[in-house]
Amino acid sequence: MTDKTFSLTNNSTGDSVELPVRQGAMGPDVVDIGTLYRNHGVFTFDPGFVSTGSCESQITYIDGEKGVLLYRGYPIEQLAGKSNFIEVAYLLLYGELPSKTQLSEFSGSITHHTMINETLLRFFNGFHYNAHPMAMVSGVISSMSAFYHDSMKIDDPVHREIFAHRVIAKIPTVAAAAYKHSMGQPFIYPRNDLDYCSNLLNMFFSVPCEPYEINPIAAEAIDLLFILHADHEQNCSTSTVRLAGSSGANPYAAIAAGVSALWGPAHGGANEAVLKMLNEIGSVENIPKFVARAKDKNDPFRLMGFGHRVYKNFDPRATLIRDMCHKVLKATGGDANGPLFELALALEEVALKDEYFIEKNLYPNVDFYSGIIYRALGIPVSMFTVMFAVARTVGWVAHWLEMIADPQGRIGRPRQLYTGAPLRDYVPVSERD
Ligand code: SDX
Repeated sequence: MTDKTFSLTNNSTGDSVELPVRQGAMGPDVVDIGTLYRNHGVFTFDPGFVSTGSCESQITYIDGEKGVLLYRGYPIEQLAGKSNFIEVAYLLLYGELPSKTQLSEFSGSITHHTMINETLLRFFNGFHYNAHPMAMVSGVISSMSAFYHDSMKIDDPVHREIFAHRVIAKIPTVAAAAYKHSMGQPFIYPRNDLDYCSNLLNMFFSVPCEPYEINPIAAEAIDLLFILHADHEQNCSTSTVRLAGSSGANPYAAIAAGVSALWGPAHGGANEAVLKMLNEIGSVENIPKFVARAKDKNDPFRLMGFGHRVYKNFDPRATLIRDMCHKVLKATGGDANGPLFELALALEEVALKDEYFIEKNLYPNVDFYSGIIYRALGIPVSMFTVMFAVARTVGWVAHWLEMIADPQGRIGRPRQLYTGAPLRDYVPVSERD
């Protein structure tokens, strides 16, 4: 708490209030309005939480004006260039970069939790072959609470750590099983001799009838994408996990809620929507027509992969992913399904010169280029958001752990501005018109 205060005056009653101001380690100060309703009988109103801090956190910091993203204080560019996903997962969960021993033990624990219960594996046979993979993943993750009872006591730190390692270890296996089910192919078991991202590729693409050779560039690209998608402060799906977890729901249910929230095209579903949009645009000649549609208030079409609630500058992740696109396309023989990367580069160039996008600070976000890489690696569009969920599970778990351990924690329960019918008496149907 600082000794700074924020004054509010209710001009209709003359009532004025001094609200305490809290200062973080970085970023804007916050005005603590926790006593506003109790002492002054008014709510604040902020649909979409544009100006509202929902919690205190020490995990990730974003400066949207400068395009800065820090995981536990470390710049995303440094982590992307020098670390790997498992090490970043440890950093997000425990707050510090691991020692060699800590990294080896953490990595070993994750590796030895990658299998899922055979009965849980059979759940996939209950889905229609063309079920959206996100429906399968959210259903199976939620069902984990029916199997793993040794990690459900949320007030037991040992249970919490087992849950954290277990769900991070198993989410790639669940993702790969959803993919294999949709392909009608046999499930491939995890292999303990492979690193996290190579294991995922093997579970996705190997088949029993021939050896599968993992492309190291593909594993490197997945590792980078997972680092960049691992966490992002209080985004929609992470806030959903915190809110679901605040009721004391079991952690698997909270993560499943996050999977569902991520699915939306305004959030993690955007990467899938970007590829569909690029295919719909089809050629560079059509770009002006679609940019015009994106600017037309009467047209619901939006440029998917553009814009962000927080970044009013380049999303630093988009820049890093765009650079990786060049490397992956070169290593995998180019744009297998047509020149979508060239089209994406051209679209970015046109949009960034357009007055509308400049005025509204609309830049490519993390989802704009990620699908280009996934597609080049042979991952189908329907699996793009699942890949986002695999990476973001680390951030969801880190925030769930932080929320559960908060001694000030309480159930999240926002209020509202009621504009519905005033008080009225019931009229029996016999007396109604
Ligand atoms: C992710 O929060 C996170 O951190 C999310 C994420 C993470 O890592 O967790 O970064 C991941 O979800 C990235 C965003 C992926 N979504 C998309 O790419 C979908 C397309 N983008 C938009 O739907 C939109 O930009 C949002 C949802 C990302 C942000 O929406 P906001 O903050 O609510 O902004 P807004 O809708 O109020 O837009 C502000 C203005 C509006 O015009 P006006 O009403 O002021 O005239 O900008 C316009 C919008 O119409 N606008 C766009 C646009 N995005 C915003 N116009 C055309 N194309 C777009 N993409």
